Amino acid sequence: MDKEFKFTYKNLPLESLDDNDMLLFEKAVSGMDNAYAPYSNFKVGASVKLENGEIVVGNNQENIAYPSGLCAERVALFYVGANYPNETIETICIVAKGDLIPVDSVLAPCGSCRQVMIESEKRQSKPIRVILVNQNKTVVVIETVKHFLPFIFG
Ligand code: THU
Repeated sequence: MDKEFKFTYKNLPLESLDDNDMLLFEKAVSGMDNAYAPYSNFKVGASVKLENGEIVVGNNQENIAYPSGLCAERVALFYVGANYPNETIETICIVAKGDLIPVDSVLAPCGSCRQVMIESEKRQSKPIRVILVNQNKTVVVIETVKHFLPFIFG
């Protein structure tokens, strides 16, 4: 029997975000501005909204020994794991700036970050919403990490 993964998404304008999501977006942008990315000049910000209302912000942290650096999403999610191990994550918002990728392409997290995101989702009973905002301010909202990581390891 054939099996399929089906996933549809919309490109939305930034203004379609409600006040809560807009605040999360703004936090991600301030995180992005504080990123330490002197080697790639590609700054990424990730903000994570917890069920207790707190927002945790991460950004990419690079290093002259390149593989020692870490992506924004994992900085944020590992901080949540370290400091709020029992808190449910509602939403993660990801933004970036730099000329590494076209300004109009979907801002998709790297495979390692998706793997970490899916494990964060599996640790809790609720799906994690993902809000991706590209440099053109086009928004993609995904209702669960599962949608963009089929055939997960784990
Ligand atoms: N980066 C992230 O922070 N998140 C991703 O999902 C992909 C890439 C960072 C890593 C590196 O500091 C810079 O972007 C260029 O790859």
